[in-house]
Amino acid sequence: MSPVNLRLIILVFYCCFMARVVHTMKYYMAAVYEHHAVLNHNSTALSSRKLALEFMSKNLNIYEQQVAAAAEKGVQIIVFPEDGIHGFNYSRLSIYPYLDFLPPPHLLPWNPCLEPDKFQDTEVLQRLSCMAASGGMFVVANLGTKVPCDALNPHCPQDGRYQFNTNVVFSDNGTLVASYFKQNLYFEISFDAPPGVQHVAFDTPFGRFGLFTCFDILFYEPVVSLIEKHQVKHLLYPTAWMNQLPLLSSIQIQRAFATGFNVNILAANIHHRTLGMTGSGIFSPLKSSYHYDMDGEGGHLIVARVPVDPSEEMYLGHAKQVSVVNTEMFEGSHTLTSAQVCDKMDNIEHCSDSVGHPKANVFHAEMMYDNFTFTLLTGNKGKIHVCVGTLCCYLSYRRVNVSNELYALGAFDGLHTVHGTYSLQICALVKCGGLDVKTCGQEVTEAGSIVTFQLWGNFSTKYIFPMMVTSGVTLQLPDHWGWKDSCFYMNKMEMDLGLVTAALYGRHYERD
Ligand SMILES: *[C@@H]1O[C@H](CO)[C@@H](O)[C@H](O)[C@H]1NC(C)=O
Ligand SMILES: *[C@@H]1O[C@H](CO)[C@@H](O)[C@H](O)[C@H]1NC(C)=O
Ligand SMILES: *[C@@H]1O[C@H](CO)[C@@H](O)[C@H](O)[C@H]1NC(C)=O
Ligand SMILES: *[C@@H]1O[C@H](CO)[C@@H](O)[C@H](O)[C@H]1NC(C)=O
Ligand SMILES: *[C@@H]1O[C@H](CO)[C@@H](O)[C@H](O)[C@H]1NC(C)=O
Ligand SMILES: *[C@@H]1O[C@H](CO)[C@@H](O)[C@H](O)[C@H]1NC(C)=O
Repeated sequence: MSPVNLRLIILVFYCCFMARVVHTMKYYMAAVYEHHAVLNHNSTALSSRKLALEFMSKNLNIYEQQVAAAAEKGVQIIVFPEDGIHGFNYSRLSIYPYLDFLPPPHLLPWNPCLEPDKFQDTEVLQRLSCMAASGGMFVVANLGTKVPCDALNPHCPQDGRYQFNTNVVFSDNGTLVASYFKQNLYFEISFDAPPGVQHVAFDTPFGRFGLFTCFDILFYEPVVSLIEKHQVKHLLYPTAWMNQLPLLSSIQIQRAFATGFNVNILAANIHHRTLGMTGSGIFSPLKSSYHYDMDGEGGHLIVARVPVDPSEEMYLGHAKQVSVVNTEMFEGSHTLTSAQVCDKMDNIEHCSDSVGHPKANVFHAEMMYDNFTFTLLTGNKGKIHVCVGTLCCYLSYRRVNVSNELYALGAFDGLHTVHGTYSLQICALVKCGGLDVKTCGQEVTEAGSIVTFQLWGNFSTKYIFPMMVTSGVTLQLPDHWGWKDSCFYMNKMEMDLGLVTAALYGRHYERD
Protein backbone atom coordinates (compact mmCIF):
# COMPACT_ATOMS: atom_id res chain seq x y z
CA MET A 1 0.00 0.00 0.00
CA SER A 2 1.40 3.37 -0.91
CA PRO A 3 1.77 5.96 1.81
CA VAL A 4 -0.81 8.14 0.10
CA ASN A 5 -3.45 5.41 0.28
CA LEU A 6 -2.69 4.68 3.87
CA ARG A 7 -2.95 8.31 4.74
CA LEU A 8 -6.35 8.49 3.06
CA ILE A 9 -7.64 5.48 4.94
CA ILE A 10 -6.50 6.85 8.23
CA LEU A 11 -8.07 10.17 7.46
CA VAL A 12 -11.38 8.42 6.76
CA PHE A 13 -11.10 6.54 10.04
CA TYR A 14 -10.43 9.73 11.85
CA CYS A 15 -13.44 11.47 10.35
CA CYS A 16 -15.79 8.62 11.26
CA PHE A 17 -14.43 8.64 14.74
CA MET A 18 -14.97 12.40 14.94
CA ALA A 19 -18.55 12.10 13.76
CA ARG A 20 -19.26 9.43 16.33
CA VAL A 21 -17.77 11.30 19.24
CA VAL A 22 -18.74 14.88 18.54
CA HIS A 23 -22.36 14.79 19.73
CA THR A 24 -21.44 13.48 23.17
CA MET A 25 -18.82 16.15 23.71
CA LYS A 26 -19.62 19.28 25.62
CA TYR A 27 -18.21 22.69 24.90
CA TYR A 28 -18.39 26.20 26.21
CA MET A 29 -17.81 29.49 24.41
CA ALA A 30 -14.82 31.43 25.65
CA ALA A 31 -13.26 34.75 24.72
CA VAL A 32 -9.98 36.46 25.49
CA TYR A 33 -9.35 40.08 24.63
CA GLU A 34 -5.87 41.25 23.66
CA HIS A 35 -6.16 44.81 24.86
CA HIS A 36 -4.29 47.76 23.42
CA ALA A 37 -4.22 49.46 26.81
CA VAL A 38 -4.43 53.22 27.05
CA LEU A 39 -1.22 53.89 29.01
CA ASN A 40 -0.75 56.44 31.72
CA HIS A 41 2.30 58.49 30.79
CA ASN A 42 2.19 60.26 34.15
CA SER A 43 2.16 57.09 36.23
CA THR A 44 4.93 58.08 38.64
CA ALA A 45 3.17 61.32 39.64
CA LEU A 46 0.83 61.37 42.62
CA SER A 47 -2.75 61.62 41.49
CA SER A 48 -6.18 61.79 43.11
CA ARG A 49 -8.79 59.03 43.18
CA LYS A 50 -10.99 61.16 40.96
CA LEU A 51 -8.31 61.57 38.26
CA ALA A 52 -7.30 57.93 38.59
CA LEU A 53 -10.88 56.81 37.96
CA GLU A 54 -11.16 59.16 35.00
CA PHE A 55 -8.03 57.63 33.54
CA MET A 56 -9.08 54.01 34.15
CA SER A 57 -12.51 54.57 32.63
CA LYS A 58 -10.80 54.95 29.24
CA ASN A 59 -9.78 51.30 29.44
CA LEU A 60 -13.01 50.17 31.10
CA ASN A 61 -15.03 51.73 28.26
CA ILE A 62 -13.17 49.48 25.82
CA TYR A 63 -13.78 46.44 28.05
CA GLU A 64 -17.48 47.27 28.06
CA GLN A 65 -17.61 47.35 24.26
CA GLN A 66 -15.78 44.03 24.07
CA VAL A 67 -18.11 42.32 26.53
CA ALA A 68 -21.04 43.50 24.41
CA ALA A 69 -19.35 42.19 21.24
CA ALA A 70 -18.62 38.87 22.95
CA ALA A 71 -22.22 38.59 24.19
CA GLU A 72 -23.43 38.75 20.60
CA LYS A 73 -21.27 35.70 19.87
CA GLY A 74 -22.72 33.69 22.74
CA VAL A 75 -19.60 33.92 24.91
CA GLN A 76 -19.95 32.50 28.44
CA ILE A 77 -16.61 33.61 29.87
CA ILE A 78 -14.21 36.38 28.87
CA VAL A 79 -10.67 37.12 30.09
CA PHE A 80 -8.92 40.52 30.03
CA PRO A 81 -5.15 41.00 30.42
CA GLU A 82 -2.97 41.87 33.38
CA ASP A 83 -2.48 45.63 34.00
CA GLY A 84 -5.07 46.34 31.31
CA ILE A 85 -7.02 48.88 33.38
CA HIS A 86 -4.30 50.93 35.10
CA GLY A 87 -1.19 50.30 32.94
CA PHE A 88 2.47 50.22 33.99
CA ASN A 89 5.31 52.00 35.74
CA TYR A 90 3.73 53.03 39.03
CA SER A 91 5.51 53.36 42.34
CA ARG A 92 4.01 51.95 45.54
CA LEU A 93 2.67 55.40 46.37
CA SER A 94 1.63 56.59 42.92
CA ILE A 95 -0.54 53.53 42.26
CA TYR A 96 -2.52 54.01 45.46
CA PRO A 97 -5.38 56.12 43.97
CA TYR A 98 -5.79 53.44 41.28
CA LEU A 99 -6.46 50.64 43.81
CA ASP A 100 -9.93 49.32 44.59
CA PHE A 101 -10.80 48.04 48.05
CA LEU A 102 -11.24 44.26 48.02
CA PRO A 103 -13.55 43.05 50.80
CA PRO A 104 -12.39 39.98 52.75
CA PRO A 105 -14.18 36.64 52.13
CA HIS A 106 -16.30 36.83 55.32
CA LEU A 107 -18.08 39.93 53.93
CA LEU A 108 -19.15 38.10 50.76
CA PRO A 109 -21.28 37.34 48.79
CA TRP A 110 -21.40 40.68 47.10
CA ASN A 111 -22.76 41.88 43.80
CA PRO A 112 -21.07 45.27 43.28
CA CYS A 113 -23.42 46.26 40.44
CA LEU A 114 -26.51 45.71 42.62
CA GLU A 115 -24.96 46.85 45.91
CA PRO A 116 -22.61 49.69 44.89
CA ASP A 117 -22.70 51.38 48.31
CA LYS A 118 -21.73 48.35 50.38
CA PHE A 119 -18.01 49.28 50.30
CA GLN A 120 -16.05 52.43 49.45
CA ASP A 121 -13.43 52.70 46.73
CA THR A 122 -14.90 49.92 44.61
CA GLU A 123 -15.75 51.82 41.43
CA VAL A 124 -13.71 49.57 39.14
CA LEU A 125 -15.22 46.41 40.65
CA GLN A 126 -18.68 47.92 40.18
CA ARG A 127 -18.13 48.55 36.50
CA LEU A 128 -16.74 45.05 35.90
CA SER A 129 -19.65 43.53 37.81
CA CYS A 130 -22.19 45.46 35.72
CA MET A 131 -20.46 44.35 32.52
CA ALA A 132 -20.75 40.71 33.61
CA ALA A 133 -24.43 41.11 34.45
CA SER A 134 -25.36 42.98 31.29
CA GLY A 135 -23.32 40.65 29.06
CA GLY A 136 -24.61 37.57 30.91
CA MET A 137 -21.13 36.05 31.08
CA PHE A 138 -18.32 35.40 33.55
CA VAL A 139 -15.88 38.31 33.42
CA VAL A 140 -12.24 37.85 34.46
CA ALA A 141 -10.13 40.99 34.84
CA ASN A 142 -6.96 42.17 36.52
CA LEU A 143 -6.71 45.28 38.68
CA GLY A 144 -4.82 46.67 41.64
CA THR A 145 -6.44 46.18 45.05
CA LYS A 146 -5.72 47.36 48.59
CA VAL A 147 -6.29 45.24 51.66
CA PRO A 148 -5.70 46.84 55.07
CA CYS A 149 -3.56 44.88 57.51
CA ASP A 150 -2.30 45.17 61.06
CA ALA A 151 1.05 46.96 60.94
CA LEU A 152 2.13 44.90 63.96
CA ASN A 153 1.84 41.75 61.88
CA PRO A 154 5.36 40.98 60.58
CA HIS A 155 3.99 40.25 57.09
CA CYS A 156 2.10 43.53 56.89
CA PRO A 157 3.90 46.31 54.97
CA GLN A 158 4.87 49.34 57.04
CA ASP A 159 2.16 51.53 55.53
CA GLY A 160 -0.51 49.24 57.00
CA ARG A 161 -1.90 47.81 53.79
CA TYR A 162 -1.23 45.18 51.20
CA GLN A 163 -1.27 46.27 47.58
CA PHE A 164 -2.03 43.30 45.38
CA ASN A 165 -1.87 42.61 41.67
CA THR A 166 -5.31 40.97 41.57
CA ASN A 167 -7.45 38.90 39.25
CA VAL A 168 -11.18 39.06 39.93
CA VAL A 169 -14.03 36.98 38.54
CA PHE A 170 -17.69 37.98 38.33
CA SER A 171 -20.40 35.44 37.58
CA ASP A 172 -22.90 36.01 34.80
CA ASN A 173 -25.14 37.92 37.23
CA GLY A 174 -22.36 40.20 38.49
CA THR A 175 -21.57 38.43 41.79
CA LEU A 176 -17.90 38.47 42.79
CA VAL A 177 -17.03 34.76 42.79
CA ALA A 178 -13.24 34.66 43.03
CA SER A 179 -10.14 36.77 43.46
CA TYR A 180 -6.46 35.84 43.20
CA PHE A 181 -3.35 37.77 44.25
CA LYS A 182 -0.39 37.27 41.92
CA GLN A 183 2.22 35.13 43.65
CA ASN A 184 5.28 35.52 41.43
CA LEU A 185 5.69 39.24 40.92
CA TYR A 186 7.94 40.33 38.08
CA PHE A 187 9.84 43.26 39.59
CA GLU A 188 6.60 45.09 40.44
CA ILE A 189 7.57 47.64 43.04
CA SER A 190 3.99 48.86 43.41
CA PHE A 191 2.68 45.49 44.60
CA ASP A 192 3.12 42.97 47.43
CA ALA A 193 3.16 39.21 47.07
CA PRO A 194 0.44 37.60 49.23
CA PRO A 195 1.71 36.41 52.64
CA GLY A 196 0.71 32.84 51.78
CA VAL A 197 0.24 30.98 48.49
CA GLN A 198 -3.35 31.15 47.25
CA HIS A 199 -4.92 28.31 45.29
CA VAL A 200 -7.99 29.88 43.74
CA ALA A 201 -10.51 27.79 41.85
CA PHE A 202 -14.25 28.21 41.32
CA ASP A 203 -16.95 26.12 39.70
CA THR A 204 -19.17 27.08 36.79
CA PRO A 205 -21.86 25.06 34.99
CA PHE A 206 -19.13 24.26 32.43
CA GLY A 207 -16.22 23.29 34.61
CA ARG A 208 -13.84 24.22 37.39
CA PHE A 209 -11.55 27.17 36.64
CA GLY A 210 -8.27 28.18 38.24
CA LEU A 211 -6.57 31.57 38.26
CA PHE A 212 -2.97 32.60 37.76
CA THR A 213 -1.11 35.58 36.31
CA CYS A 214 1.75 36.23 33.87
CA PHE A 215 5.13 35.19 35.41
CA ASP A 216 3.34 32.55 37.55
CA ILE A 217 3.44 30.31 34.47
CA LEU A 218 7.08 29.44 35.19
CA PHE A 219 6.61 28.29 38.80
CA TYR A 220 5.13 25.37 40.71
CA GLU A 221 3.06 27.53 43.05
CA PRO A 222 0.26 28.13 42.58
CA VAL A 223 -0.56 26.88 39.10
CA VAL A 224 0.98 23.40 38.94
CA SER A 225 -0.44 22.76 42.37
CA LEU A 226 -3.90 23.83 41.12
CA ILE A 227 -3.66 21.31 38.31
CA GLU A 228 -2.18 18.44 40.31
CA LYS A 229 -3.93 18.85 43.65
CA HIS A 230 -7.12 20.80 42.95
CA GLN A 231 -8.42 19.06 39.81
CA VAL A 232 -8.36 22.22 37.74
CA LYS A 233 -8.55 21.64 33.98
CA HIS A 234 -9.35 25.17 32.82
CA LEU A 235 -6.99 28.03 33.54
CA LEU A 236 -7.68 31.74 33.30
CA TYR A 237 -4.52 33.62 32.54
CA PRO A 238 -4.31 37.43 32.43
CA THR A 239 -0.79 38.39 31.36
CA ALA A 240 1.36 41.34 30.28
CA TRP A 241 4.11 39.34 28.62
CA MET A 242 7.12 40.71 26.80
CA ASN A 243 8.00 38.29 24.05
CA GLN A 244 11.41 36.72 23.94
CA LEU A 245 12.29 34.12 21.37
CA PRO A 246 13.73 31.51 20.92
CA LEU A 247 12.08 30.02 24.04
CA LEU A 248 9.66 32.39 25.75
CA SER A 249 7.35 34.03 23.31
CA SER A 250 3.89 34.49 24.88
CA ILE A 251 1.89 32.13 22.66
CA GLN A 252 4.75 29.62 22.60
CA ILE A 253 4.73 29.10 26.38
CA GLN A 254 0.91 29.27 26.53
CA ARG A 255 0.62 26.55 23.86
CA ALA A 256 3.33 24.41 25.49
CA PHE A 257 1.74 24.73 28.93
CA ALA A 258 -1.67 23.49 27.72
CA THR A 259 0.04 20.63 25.89
CA GLY A 260 2.37 19.74 28.74
CA PHE A 261 -0.36 19.62 31.39
CA ASN A 262 -3.26 18.52 29.20
CA VAL A 263 -5.41 21.49 30.24
CA ASN A 264 -7.28 24.37 28.61
CA ILE A 265 -5.78 27.81 29.01
CA LEU A 266 -7.50 31.12 28.26
CA ALA A 267 -4.67 33.62 27.94
CA ALA A 268 -5.15 37.36 27.46
CA ASN A 269 -2.10 39.55 26.84
CA ILE A 270 -1.64 43.30 26.47
CA HIS A 271 -1.10 44.55 22.94
CA HIS A 272 1.78 47.00 22.74
CA ARG A 273 4.38 46.67 20.02
CA THR A 274 6.83 49.09 21.59
CA LEU A 275 6.77 47.06 24.82
CA GLY A 276 7.13 43.79 22.87
CA MET A 277 3.72 42.66 24.11
CA THR A 278 1.37 40.66 21.92
CA GLY A 279 0.22 37.05 21.86
CA SER A 280 -3.04 35.80 23.35
CA GLY A 281 -5.02 32.68 22.78
CA ILE A 282 -7.44 29.98 23.75
CA PHE A 283 -5.65 26.68 23.90
CA SER A 284 -6.91 23.19 24.54
CA PRO A 285 -4.38 20.35 24.61
CA LEU A 286 -4.54 19.97 20.83
CA LYS A 287 -6.17 23.08 19.44
CA SER A 288 -5.20 26.72 19.33
CA SER A 289 -6.99 29.95 18.49
CA TYR A 290 -4.39 32.62 18.90
CA HIS A 291 -3.45 36.14 17.94
CA TYR A 292 0.10 37.42 17.55
CA ASP A 293 0.62 40.72 15.77
CA MET A 294 3.78 42.79 15.91
CA ASP A 295 2.62 45.01 13.02
CA GLY A 296 -0.79 46.41 13.94
CA GLU A 297 -1.68 48.56 16.94
CA GLY A 298 -5.26 47.51 17.75
CA GLY A 299 -6.90 45.23 20.29
CA HIS A 300 -8.27 41.87 19.23
CA LEU A 301 -11.10 39.64 20.47
CA ILE A 302 -10.60 35.88 20.15
CA VAL A 303 -13.64 33.64 20.53
CA ALA A 304 -13.45 29.85 20.56
CA ARG A 305 -15.42 26.77 21.49
CA VAL A 306 -13.59 24.91 24.22
CA PRO A 307 -14.11 21.29 25.36
CA VAL A 308 -15.43 20.91 28.92
CA ASP A 309 -13.24 17.83 29.26
CA PRO A 310 -9.86 18.50 27.67
CA SER A 311 -8.78 14.88 27.98
CA GLU A 312 -11.66 13.80 25.74
CA GLU A 313 -10.16 15.85 22.96
CA MET A 314 -6.79 14.42 23.82
CA TYR A 315 -8.17 10.93 23.24
CA LEU A 316 -9.63 12.05 19.96
CA GLY A 317 -6.34 13.63 19.09
CA HIS A 318 -4.42 10.48 19.71
CA ALA A 319 -6.66 8.68 17.25
CA LYS A 320 -5.51 11.24 14.74
CA GLN A 321 -1.95 10.80 15.81
CA VAL A 322 -1.93 7.15 14.83
CA SER A 323 -1.20 8.44 11.40
CA VAL A 324 1.36 7.72 8.80
CA VAL A 325 4.79 9.06 9.31
CA ASN A 326 7.65 8.89 6.92
CA THR A 327 10.39 7.17 8.81
CA GLU A 328 13.15 7.34 6.27
CA MET A 329 15.15 9.17 8.85
CA PHE A 330 15.03 6.01 10.90
CA GLU A 331 16.80 4.20 8.10
CA GLY A 332 13.79 2.47 6.65
CA SER A 333 11.79 3.44 3.62
CA HIS A 334 8.57 2.02 5.04
CA THR A 335 5.64 3.84 6.37
CA LEU A 336 5.00 3.07 9.99
CA THR A 337 2.52 3.92 12.67
CA SER A 338 3.54 5.84 15.74
CA ALA A 339 3.82 2.72 17.86
CA GLN A 340 6.21 1.26 15.35
CA VAL A 341 8.23 4.42 15.25
CA CYS A 342 8.79 4.12 18.96
CA ASP A 343 9.88 0.50 18.63
CA LYS A 344 12.19 1.48 15.85
CA MET A 345 13.73 4.04 18.17
CA ASP A 346 15.03 1.15 20.20
CA ASN A 347 17.17 0.12 17.28
CA ILE A 348 18.95 3.40 16.95
CA GLU A 349 21.01 5.28 19.46
CA HIS A 350 19.07 5.42 22.68
CA CYS A 351 19.05 7.76 25.62
CA SER A 352 21.28 5.68 27.79
CA ASP A 353 23.92 5.10 25.12
CA SER A 354 26.72 7.51 24.73
CA VAL A 355 27.00 7.44 20.97
CA GLY A 356 28.01 9.38 17.99
CA HIS A 357 30.46 12.00 17.16
CA PRO A 358 33.45 13.40 18.95
CA LYS A 359 32.85 16.55 20.97
CA ALA A 360 35.05 18.62 18.69
CA ASN A 361 32.25 20.60 17.11
CA VAL A 362 30.61 21.53 20.40
CA PHE A 363 30.50 25.24 21.22
CA HIS A 364 28.96 27.57 23.78
CA ALA A 365 26.65 30.49 23.13
CA GLU A 366 24.21 32.49 25.19
CA MET A 367 20.51 31.88 24.67
CA MET A 368 17.97 33.71 26.84
CA TYR A 369 20.88 34.71 29.14
CA ASP A 370 21.85 31.07 29.70
CA ASN A 371 25.11 29.45 28.63
CA PHE A 372 23.95 26.73 26.23
CA THR A 373 26.12 23.97 24.84
CA PHE A 374 25.49 23.67 21.11
CA THR A 375 26.35 21.51 18.15
CA LEU A 376 25.52 22.36 14.52
CA LEU A 377 23.30 20.55 12.07
CA THR A 378 25.28 19.78 8.94
CA GLY A 379 24.19 18.39 5.55
CA ASN A 380 20.59 17.55 4.73
CA LYS A 381 20.18 14.80 7.29
CA GLY A 382 21.90 13.38 10.30
CA LYS A 383 21.90 12.33 13.92
CA ILE A 384 23.58 14.45 16.50
CA HIS A 385 23.62 14.83 20.24
CA VAL A 386 24.91 17.21 22.83
CA CYS A 387 25.32 16.68 26.58
CA VAL A 388 25.68 19.03 29.53
CA GLY A 389 25.39 18.26 33.23
CA THR A 390 23.28 15.12 33.49
CA LEU A 391 21.25 15.94 30.38
CA CYS A 392 21.89 14.51 26.92
CA CYS A 393 19.85 15.83 23.99
CA TYR A 394 19.51 13.84 20.77
CA LEU A 395 18.31 14.84 17.36
CA SER A 396 17.53 12.96 14.15
CA TYR A 397 16.82 15.43 11.40
CA ARG A 398 16.16 15.87 7.73
CA ARG A 399 16.25 19.22 6.00
CA VAL A 400 13.91 19.07 3.07
CA ASN A 401 15.16 22.17 1.29
CA VAL A 402 18.62 22.98 2.44
CA SER A 403 19.14 26.69 2.46
CA ASN A 404 21.98 28.77 3.74
CA GLU A 405 20.40 29.00 7.17
CA LEU A 406 22.33 27.76 10.19
CA TYR A 407 20.63 25.48 12.76
CA ALA A 408 22.00 24.18 16.03
CA LEU A 409 21.01 21.73 18.74
CA GLY A 410 21.47 23.20 22.21
CA ALA A 411 21.33 21.84 25.75
CA PHE A 412 21.09 23.61 29.08
CA ASP A 413 20.90 22.09 32.56
CA GLY A 414 21.07 24.56 35.39
CA LEU A 415 19.77 27.60 37.18
CA HIS A 416 18.51 30.55 35.17
CA THR A 417 19.33 33.73 37.09
CA VAL A 418 18.50 36.76 34.92
CA HIS A 419 15.05 38.38 35.31
CA GLY A 420 14.03 35.71 37.78
CA THR A 421 15.60 32.60 39.28
CA TYR A 422 14.39 29.19 38.16
CA SER A 423 15.94 25.87 37.28
CA LEU A 424 15.77 24.56 33.73
CA GLN A 425 16.61 21.51 31.64
CA ILE A 426 16.28 22.27 27.95
CA CYS A 427 16.87 20.53 24.63
CA ALA A 428 16.39 23.02 21.82
CA LEU A 429 16.73 22.97 18.07
CA VAL A 430 17.06 26.59 16.95
CA LYS A 431 17.67 28.57 13.82
CA CYS A 432 20.71 30.78 14.50
CA GLY A 433 20.56 34.54 14.01
CA GLY A 434 23.09 34.49 11.16
CA LEU A 435 25.76 32.28 9.68
CA ASP A 436 28.24 32.65 12.54
CA VAL A 437 27.98 30.16 15.41
CA LYS A 438 28.05 33.11 17.80
CA THR A 439 24.55 34.00 16.57
CA CYS A 440 23.02 30.70 17.72
CA GLY A 441 20.54 31.44 20.49
CA GLN A 442 19.67 34.90 19.20
CA GLU A 443 16.12 36.01 18.63
CA VAL A 444 14.82 34.97 15.18
CA THR A 445 11.26 35.22 13.89
CA GLU A 446 11.51 34.15 10.23
CA ALA A 447 12.89 30.93 8.71
CA GLY A 448 12.80 29.25 5.31
CA SER A 449 14.17 25.78 6.07
CA ILE A 450 11.79 22.88 6.30
CA VAL A 451 13.23 20.62 9.00
CA THR A 452 11.58 17.38 10.05
CA PHE A 453 12.97 15.79 13.14
CA GLN A 454 12.81 13.72 16.25
CA LEU A 455 14.18 15.43 19.35
CA TRP A 456 14.66 13.66 22.67
CA GLY A 457 16.56 13.90 25.93
CA ASN A 458 17.11 12.04 29.21
CA PHE A 459 15.55 14.62 31.51
CA SER A 460 15.56 14.23 35.25
CA THR A 461 12.37 16.29 35.70
CA LYS A 462 8.92 15.12 34.66
CA TYR A 463 7.79 18.66 33.83
CA ILE A 464 8.52 19.08 30.15
CA PHE A 465 6.82 21.53 27.84
CA PRO A 466 7.07 20.63 24.15
CA MET A 467 7.15 23.78 22.02
CA MET A 468 7.48 24.52 18.33
CA VAL A 469 7.50 27.86 16.50
CA THR A 470 7.61 28.28 12.74
CA SER A 471 8.22 31.24 10.47
CA GLY A 472 6.37 34.44 11.33
CA VAL A 473 5.90 33.29 14.96
CA THR A 474 3.29 30.69 14.10
CA LEU A 475 2.63 27.66 16.29
CA GLN A 476 2.79 23.97 15.49
CA LEU A 477 2.13 20.91 17.59
CA PRO A 478 4.51 17.99 17.32
CA ASP A 479 3.09 14.83 15.74
CA HIS A 480 3.91 12.83 18.85
CA TRP A 481 5.39 13.53 22.22
CA GLY A 482 5.80 11.76 25.55
CA TRP A 483 8.06 9.47 27.50
CA LYS A 484 9.77 6.51 25.97
CA ASP A 485 11.77 4.65 28.60
CA SER A 486 13.80 7.30 30.36
CA CYS A 487 13.62 9.85 27.56
CA PHE A 488 11.08 12.49 26.70
CA TYR A 489 10.70 12.90 22.95
CA MET A 490 8.79 14.81 20.32
CA ASN A 491 8.77 14.53 16.57
CA LYS A 492 7.47 16.29 13.50
CA MET A 493 7.45 14.49 10.20
CA GLU A 494 5.78 17.04 7.97
CA MET A 495 6.11 20.76 7.95
CA ASP A 496 5.11 23.47 5.53
CA LEU A 497 6.77 26.46 7.16
CA GLY A 498 10.40 27.15 8.01
CA LEU A 499 11.44 26.10 11.51
CA VAL A 500 12.30 28.81 14.04
CA THR A 501 12.49 26.73 17.25
CA ALA A 502 11.61 23.25 18.44
CA ALA A 503 12.30 22.69 22.10
CA LEU A 504 11.65 20.48 25.07
CA TYR A 505 11.50 23.08 27.83
CA GLY A 506 11.92 21.30 31.15
CA ARG A 507 11.29 22.92 34.51
CA HIS A 508 13.08 21.46 37.51
CA TYR A 509 10.86 23.04 40.19
CA GLU A 510 12.39 21.21 43.13
CA ARG A 511 15.87 22.45 42.19
CA ASP A 512 14.90 26.17 42.31
C1 LIG B 1 1.19 64.61 36.07
O1 LIG B 1 0.43 64.59 37.26
C2 LIG B 1 0.67 65.69 38.14
C3 LIG B 1 -0.11 65.46 39.41
O2 LIG B 1 -1.44 65.14 39.12
C4 LIG B 1 0.26 66.98 37.42
O3 LIG B 1 0.56 68.08 38.24
C5 LIG B 1 1.04 67.09 36.12
O4 LIG B 1 0.60 68.20 35.39
C6 LIG B 1 0.87 65.84 35.27
N1 LIG B 1 1.72 65.90 34.10
C7 LIG B 1 1.29 65.62 32.90
C8 LIG B 1 2.30 65.71 31.80
O5 LIG B 1 0.14 65.30 32.68
C1 LIG C 1 8.27 52.60 31.93
O1 LIG C 1 9.52 53.17 32.30
C2 LIG C 1 10.60 52.73 31.51
C3 LIG C 1 11.87 53.28 32.09
O2 LIG C 1 11.64 54.33 32.94
C4 LIG C 1 10.37 53.17 30.09
O3 LIG C 1 11.41 52.71 29.27
C5 LIG C 1 9.06 52.57 29.58
O4 LIG C 1 8.78 53.04 28.28
C6 LIG C 1 7.94 52.96 30.50
N1 LIG C 1 6.76 52.25 30.07
C7 LIG C 1 5.60 52.84 29.95
C8 LIG C 1 4.50 51.97 29.52
O5 LIG C 1 5.43 54.01 30.17
C1 LIG D 1 -25.58 34.81 40.93
O1 LIG D 1 -24.43 34.01 40.67
C2 LIG D 1 -23.93 33.36 41.82
C3 LIG D 1 -22.64 32.69 41.43
O2 LIG D 1 -22.77 31.91 40.27
C4 LIG D 1 -24.96 32.41 42.36
O3 LIG D 1 -24.48 31.78 43.52
C5 LIG D 1 -26.24 33.18 42.70
O4 LIG D 1 -27.23 32.29 43.09
C6 LIG D 1 -26.71 33.99 41.50
N1 LIG D 1 -27.77 34.86 41.94
C7 LIG D 1 -28.92 34.96 41.29
C8 LIG D 1 -29.90 35.94 41.85
O5 LIG D 1 -29.13 34.32 40.28
C1 LIG E 1 21.81 10.92 30.49
O1 LIG E 1 22.68 10.23 29.64
C2 LIG E 1 24.07 10.48 29.89
C3 LIG E 1 24.88 9.77 28.81
O2 LIG E 1 24.54 8.44 28.75
C4 LIG E 1 24.42 10.01 31.30
O3 LIG E 1 25.76 10.30 31.59
C5 LIG E 1 23.50 10.73 32.29
O4 LIG E 1 23.74 10.25 33.60
C6 LIG E 1 22.06 10.51 31.92
N1 LIG E 1 21.23 11.30 32.82
C7 LIG E 1 20.24 10.80 33.52
C8 LIG E 1 19.46 11.75 34.36
O5 LIG E 1 19.96 9.62 33.51
C1 LIG F 1 29.93 28.40 29.23
O1 LIG F 1 30.19 27.11 29.77
C2 LIG F 1 31.44 26.56 29.37
C3 LIG F 1 31.55 25.14 29.90
O2 LIG F 1 31.16 25.07 31.22
C4 LIG F 1 32.57 27.43 29.83
O3 LIG F 1 33.80 26.92 29.39
C5 LIG F 1 32.38 28.85 29.28
O4 LIG F 1 33.36 29.70 29.79
C6 LIG F 1 31.01 29.37 29.64
N1 LIG F 1 30.79 30.63 28.95
C7 LIG F 1 30.44 31.72 29.60
C8 LIG F 1 30.26 32.94 28.75
O5 LIG F 1 30.22 31.74 30.80
C1 LIG G 1 11.79 25.93 1.55
O1 LIG G 1 10.46 25.60 1.25
C2 LIG G 1 9.50 26.51 1.69
C3 LIG G 1 8.13 25.95 1.42
O2 LIG G 1 8.07 25.40 0.14
C4 LIG G 1 9.74 27.85 1.03
O3 LIG G 1 8.81 28.78 1.51
C5 LIG G 1 11.12 28.31 1.37
O4 LIG G 1 11.39 29.54 0.72
C6 LIG G 1 12.12 27.27 0.95
N1 LIG G 1 13.43 27.70 1.39
C7 LIG G 1 14.45 27.70 0.58
C8 LIG G 1 15.70 28.20 1.17
O5 LIG G 1 14.39 27.31 -0.55
